[in-house]
Parts: sequence; structure tokens; C-alpha cells
Amino acid sequence: MVQKHQPDLGGFDTDPDRSFNMPAAYYTDQAIFEREKEAIFFKSWRFVGHITEMPEPGDYLTQDICGQNVFVVRDAKGCFNGFYNVCKHRAHELVSGRRGNVKAVITCPYHAWAYGLDGSLRNARFADQVKGFDKSGFSLSTIRVEIFCGFVFVNLDPDARPIGECAPGFEETFRAHAPDLDAMVWTGQANFDIAANWKVVAENGLDGYHVFLSGPAHKALGELMDGHNLKMTTHEGWAKLHAHAGTGDNKAYGYSTGEGQTDEYVTMLLWPDLLLFTLPGANGVWSFLMAPEGPGRTREEIAAYTPGGTEMDDATKEAVRYMNEVLGPEDVGLNIGVQKGLNSRGYRQGRLMVDDARSDMSEHTIHFVQLMTLKALGDLG
Ligand code: FES
Ligand SMILES: [Fe+2]
Repeated sequence: MVQKHQPDLGGFDTDPDRSFNMPAAYYTDQAIFEREKEAIFFKSWRFVGHITEMPEPGDYLTQDICGQNVFVVRDAKGCFNGFYNVCKHRAHELVSGRRGNVKAVITCPYHAWAYGLDGSLRNARFADQVKGFDKSGFSLSTIRVEIFCGFVFVNLDPDARPIGECAPGFEETFRAHAPDLDAMVWTGQANFDIAANWKVVAENGLDGYHVFLSGPAHKALGELMDGHNLKMTTHEGWAKLHAHAGTGDNKAYGYSTGEGQTDEYVTMLLWPDLLLFTLPGANGVWSFLMAPEGPGRTREEIAAYTPGGTEMDDATKEAVRYMNEVLGPEDVGLNIGVQKGLNSRGYRQGRLMVDDARSDMSEHTIHFVQLMTLKALGDLG
């Protein structure tokens, strides 16, 4: 079956109360994915990492943005400079791996052109023999960099609005739930390659319906949280889930809510594909990037941060064990199962389950992801 690049939206409605899901083709079609790259991922703020991952001059982090490799390097003044990861001579990649240190100059591994940490070409061997060679014409292509909530973000769009303007209120709200945010230090990261569209993963991260009131998908999580106080809200450029830990027994993990321990489960989506979250009883915050690699592939990057970089206490380790061994695999299975179904000729679009009260089971947050996507693509007519 040949799918149109811009499918008929069918029952999708800008009003979540009346809306069906967006059509399945938005999760499977290569041509739509190409449009998402241009309209969303090459224009929005992209998560790179945390400032504590690059404390020294010359430290760099790379990131892949839908096939565009970029890096951010810290200079001698402590500033963060961002560039496309490509040499201006004959296009060799400049730096490799997730992280490293280039010392004072970035030297290309091919013919050794050397660039300053500001991106200017400092030295090209043999250049004095080349007619009319002007070093100033070969500076690296820069990209925008912003530090937000202690995290490093880049944007390939030179005209992008600052993150705080794209997502007003996000930072204040997250800081209210993570008062130690400025003391957080990166402690580790794990990546997973998931056979599902990035929106399937993002929607699942904002989905209360599959968790609470004895939902079948996460039995232990449903016991851990008090689903009746789950609040799910959508905002300009972000969305939020907030619950408190329940008071009864649970099979997820043991926790205390003493000093320094939160009893809050908070997940905040920074549009389009970054979740920041806290877990009850755990002393830290987590980032969860759902970076698209194709219409049916997502690279999940999950990283942990603790106050001062201290070793996790026992309760936090238990929360992480539960997340790694139970919750994460459960969600991966759900996401892959949905992606398989989205490829089926027997499915086009289901009904979003939204109620007036925006209760703990309401899918208005799912609608938020879909509406933002269609708006960005210019598909709403
Ligand atoms: S490609 Fe980088 S120096 Fe030649
Ligand atoms: Fe889940």
C-alpha cells in the first residue's frame, strides 16, 4: 500500500475531547519522517548532555540529530561552543565517540587542519603554497548552544527562540520538584535502540491510562503511585505528569520519604523528545531522550544525576533497579508492540480517551504530542 506523504487526518481534532489519534502513517512513513526532521528536529532545542560531563577546557560531547552529527566543546573561558562535526577541508568528522578532550585545538584526523575552540581555522599545513588561500573562510559551521536547567542543548536553527521562550514555566516548575538541581552531577548513561517511532515512546511516557487503577501494563508501578492524585497537564512547549507515592504496599521497590527524599513521581516532557523525571524515595533526577533515528527506530538515552555526584543511596539504587529491570523492559515491550500494530493494514486511528476532568486515565497528554507534531508539520490546514 502506498501511503500519501500527508495523510487525511480523519477523526483527528484539535480539540482533545473529540479527537481520534493521528493516523498510523505518521508513525511509519519515511516521507513524513523526513518532514519531521526539517520541521521539528532541525528546528527545536536538542539535548546533548549535562554541564558536569564537560568540566575542563577542551572537553567535548557529541550528539547525533537525525544523522547530523554535532559537538559542543568547552573553551578556556568556560563557555560552551557548538559546531557541526565536520572538517571544512574534505569533510572528515572532527571528533569521535560520545565524549573526549581536544586540549587547546581541534585537529582533523585526516590532513591535520587545526581549529581553535572558537571554530576558527588556526593552521592548515602547506596553505602558504596555495594561491589565494584565506584561512578566515574556513571556520567551522557553528550551531546555537544554551544551558538550561544545567543541561546542554543545541539548535541547528540560527533563528530559534531561546528555550525559556519555547517552554515558558518549564524551568521554574521542574526546579520546584528538584530543588537540588544546581548540585546535580552526571553519574552515568545507558542507550537503547528501540524498534518504535519516537512519538510512540513519548506518548507512552505521558500515558497515565496504562498505569493507574490496576491497569494491566505496570502492576507494580500502579501500586507504587497513588493514581488518584495523578495530575497530567499540558503547557506551551511542555507537559507534566505528577503523582505522589501511595501509602500501601507495593511490589516495585521499598522507599522512605524522609529528609532529602521526595515522595513525588514527576515526569516533564520538554517538547519534542526529552523527559526529565524524579522517582519516589530516590535522591536524584533522570533525563530520558527519545532521539529519532528513523520512522520506526528510536535511540533512548537515559542518564542519572545525583547531588554532588555522590554514590546512590540504597533507596535510590532500588528505584534504579526497578526502572532498569522491570519498568523499562515493560515499556519497551509496549512500545514495540504498538509500532508493530501501527504497521498493520487493520489499523488506522483509534479514539483518544479524554474526559472533562482530565483525570488520571485521560489521554489529553497523548493528544498534546500529536497536536504539536501536526502543528509543526503544518498539516492542520
Ligand atoms: S578533511 Fe580535515 S584536514 Fe582534510
Ligand atoms: Fe509505561
